[in-house]
Amino acid sequence: MGLTIGVDIGGTKILAGVVDAAGVVLDRVKVPTPTDPAAVAEAIGDAVRHLVRDREVDAVGLGAAGFIAADRATVMFSANVSAWVDEPLRDRIQNLVGLPVVVENDANAAAWAEVRFGAGAGHDDVVCLTIGTGIGGAIVQEGRLVRGRHGIAGEPGHMRVVPDGLLCGCGNYGCWEQYASGNALTRFARERAAGEPRAAEKLLAFGDGTPDGIRGPHVTQAARLDDPIALAAFRDIGEWLGQGMADLAAILDPGAFVLGGGVSEAGELLLEPTLSAYHRVLTRGHRPAAEVVVATLGPEAGLVGAADLARL
Ligand code: BGC
Ligand code: NA
Ligand code: ZN
Repeated sequence: MGLTIGVDIGGTKILAGVVDAAGVVLDRVKVPTPTDPAAVAEAIGDAVRHLVRDREVDAVGLGAAGFIAADRATVMFSANVSAWVDEPLRDRIQNLVGLPVVVENDANAAAWAEVRFGAGAGHDDVVCLTIGTGIGGAIVQEGRLVRGRHGIAGEPGHMRVVPDGLLCGCGNYGCWEQYASGNALTRFARERAAGEPRAAEKLLAFGDGTPDGIRGPHVTQAARLDDPIALAAFRDIGEWLGQGMADLAAILDPGAFVLGGGVSEAGELLLEPTLSAYHRVLTRGHRPAAEVVVATLGPEAGLVGAADLARL
């Protein structure tokens, strides 16, 4: 197979690109994610048609933020994207573009790219976590993506970590993604800034001066300037993230964790508190530690992985 197209469909944007067999992105487009499922399909179709204008493409891989059924065709449910419920995404897109289409979970796709071409290369047993709007996850064991009986293994964002905790987009209470995602980072920062506005001076200045005006990227920017409230918000999510990773290690015993997604771009700001919580729980629990690495392929990992999975 020559070139394939990968499409990453997230809560806020759709990223599509033409990718070669070595994982190199030759051309790309980015559009905002519409809210209604028909409009999402139209936007994907338009992006693909745009990319095939002057290139021969063999197949399309879609990485979608949601529970993807074992048929690799249907989005059963999405906690963060539009109103997808039993959405026949593969067929809709196939009809629009006239190419073979496969659907994969967005985090599985990004993980696949990191294991093939990025930070997970050389490891056979990997847990990848994408820290963005929610928490995406993927399990690679003995070099293979674990999909589970219904296709929806590797959804650690919806592990319940707090009994009767915060309401999640999936309908449950206390899911991990309410405590260790990009959304959680922003929420912790807002709560702390509301309690101690003087300490949050630098952080508040990035927005409109009110706690509600704080956006995710502001927290990273302010933490880089040593804003104590922004740093504390990173410690909040790092603590939850590291503890959850130790739980996952107790089940899966990976050789490496790869941390990707927008929040992972904060690097040490996230890693430091995460590793400290992770190692604390492991050491007490008599378990050897996995390597913890930050993803290297950046925001295009999802589309690269989806394009690669379309070849298989
Ligand atoms: C969804 C996953 C997705 C993740 C990241 C979670 O809420 O359940 O399917 O991979 O968010 O987008
Ligand atoms: Na997954
Ligand atoms: Zn949930």
